[in-house]
Amino acid sequence: MHTPSAARDPGRHFFAVNMHAFEVVDLEALAQREGTPLYVYSAPAIRGRVQGLQAALQGLDALVCFAVKANSSQAVLQLMDELGAGADIVSGGELWRSLRAGIPPERIVFSGVGKSAEEIVQALDAGVARFNVESRDELELLQRLAAARGTVAHAAVRINPDVDALTHAKISTGKSENKFGVSIDEARAWFARSDDCPHVRLDGLHMHIGSQILQLEPMRLALQRLGAFWRELASAGHAIASIDVGGGLGVRYREGEQAPDPVEYVALIREALAGFDGRIVLEPGRYLVAEAGILLARVLRTKQGEQRRFLVLDAAMNDLLRPSLYDAWHDIVRVGGNDGRETQAYDVVGPVCETGDTFALSRPMPRCEAGDLVAIVGAGAYGASMASTYNSRPLAAEVLVDGGRYAVVRRRQSFEDMVAGEQPAGDWRKA
Ligand code: LLP
Repeated sequence: MHTPSAARDPGRHFFAVNMHAFEVVDLEALAQREGTPLYVYSAPAIRGRVQGLQAALQGLDALVCFAVKANSSQAVLQLMDELGAGADIVSGGELWRSLRAGIPPERIVFSGVGKSAEEIVQALDAGVARFNVESRDELELLQRLAAARGTVAHAAVRINPDVDALTHAKISTGKSENKFGVSIDEARAWFARSDDCPHVRLDGLHMHIGSQILQLEPMRLALQRLGAFWRELASAGHAIASIDVGGGLGVRYREGEQAPDPVEYVALIREALAGFDGRIVLEPGRYLVAEAGILLARVLRTKQGEQRRFLVLDAAMNDLLRPSLYDAWHDIVRVGGNDGRETQAYDVVGPVCETGDTFALSRPMPRCEAGDLVAIVGAGAYGASMASTYNSRPLAAEVLVDGGRYAVVRRRQSFEDMVAGEQPAGDWRKA
């Protein structure tokens, strides 16, 4: 049941969707010890999602490669590794993080429209499982770099299936006007001329049509196009060893939203790729971690404006950008529940000097006062990983909760940390 405000023990505990581990953590005490803003992740909730998806995939040669961009915390990546998941990376930095967390290169796939030569070399040297190639230029660069190292890169072509994922325009990636992937016609030509690139073993297909997808119909359509193309290639004699269906599975951020059932999603994959005996790769990010995380913030003050009532938090758009960037909805809960208070409508805002630093507009909440603790729910994906130090606000601390205990997995950034690497202009050089 979606009851983000449910609190069995108001004032002490907070019970959120699918986040059983939070039941045994006193969020108020946690916030007092570690300060706010504070990201709190539930290890059991993450395990539940990964294992649930792995169970749905049973019988298939399938690998879940967590999209590192969703939450690139070392602790979260270590958890993924323990669960046998791999990583979908899009930069040298994500490669480095994944390897450092112990994820073996055989379980790493490298996506992205702008891989640099340096990043490709890093990934070749690391021995990643596969490059998801997005342009002819990248294919040729991969060929040259692999040839120079006397190695053969395993590659998949990222298909742009020209399907509208029916999600927010800024996170829709599978339409022909988007920068991602290549058309099926272009991909066909790559396979026909694959002998031109002897240092690239082009034996995979990839796609990713967008994120926070709540309707399975676009997935079905895209998977069918992918499946049909695989069959065409196979009958033309091209051996396909891997099909990567991307990520995108949405979650329920808001009452009334219906998240797709992962078992139904996997059924679509089974149907579209029936008869495929190679490896199936999935690249979910959000689905595995979004609901396993909250952002705790303190109410700094309430402010009655001429027209609106503001709830000013100590968290801001630099900590959690999604509402500012996509008008994304996150439930916001007063830790401690209603406590007999009347409901008021607040514009929930942060201290950053932008009107866009708004988490919610006219949000009904129990009357709040300075010092109250609130939880911004569904913050485990694209929260900390998109944070910045804008307005010179140090990065928030992050903790992982497991079995009633918690560990600080990222200490709060100090002012010194924040300026590390900066230096006064003194060492003038000529370029
Ligand atoms: N694979 C590729 C190639 C991707 O580009 C992405 C996400 C994923 C997998 C994972 O997608 P997911 O399963 O998490 O939907 N910052 C936005 C989301 C951007 C997603 C970008 N690509 C947000 O906060 O909603």
